[in-house]
Amino acid sequence: MASLLAVVPLGVWTVNHLWNNLSAFKGGAAWQADVTEYGHPLAFFASSVVALLPLVLHTVWGISRLTTSKPNNVKYKNFTNLKYALQRLSAIGVMLFLGAHIWLAMLHPRITTGRPEPFADIAHEMHHHGPTLAVYVLGTLGVAYHLANGLHSFAMGWGIVTSRQALKKLEGVVLVVFLLLLAMSWGAVYGLWEAGT
Ligand code: HEM
Repeated sequence: MASLLAVVPLGVWTVNHLWNNLSAFKGGAAWQADVTEYGHPLAFFASSVVALLPLVLHTVWGISRLTTSKPNNVKYKNFTNLKYALQRLSAIGVMLFLGAHIWLAMLHPRITTGRPEPFADIAHEMHHHGPTLAVYVLGTLGVAYHLANGLHSFAMGWGIVTSRQALKKLEGVVLVVFLLLLAMSWGAVYGLWEAGT
């Protein structure tokens, strides 16, 4: 169930979130309208529930799986094993990234100034604060890998894809999804960086 929650609504929400962030190329007003402004207070609440509740549930489930996983990469050096270890490594990276991201981009500005993060502030940070840029570049790389590769185990776990041939095809789909997510993420980061001069 927690893997289903990670795909719908969390995965879908993430694609939409990255898409909205690409509005950085359209300027501050467009980005703020798409990312941080909500037409109605209930819309803010609903969006937070759709994103944060599944995120918390998936994280709790994931941590319990992390504590029982036994990588055997030293003994068996094959690609599937490497992906298994990377899925767990990226989980830890994504957890750290999202902890920092939700606090700094969403909660901190709202708590300290009573309003969401303005475009000019996040763009300025992205351009002039190296650690912020590094965290976004690496954090979104982790998300792209974790989500794309997660689709593979999700499709197997739920019996959507079973034959050896179909699983091979799915690998290609996973690669395309990974590259698309990465292009959207790094595109948005570049859009903010460019606007932050
Ligand atoms: C391209 C890089 C990204 C940028 C510039 C960005 C920007 C933002 C901003 C400004 C907020 C605060 C929104 C508000 O105050 O209402 C936010 C919230 C959030 N972001 Fe991102 N984000 C990025 C990538 C990601 C990724 C890859 C994830 C992975 C799941 C993610 C997950 C979240 C979550 C869970 C929230 C809080 C939930 C919500 O707004 O309702 N973000 N993001």
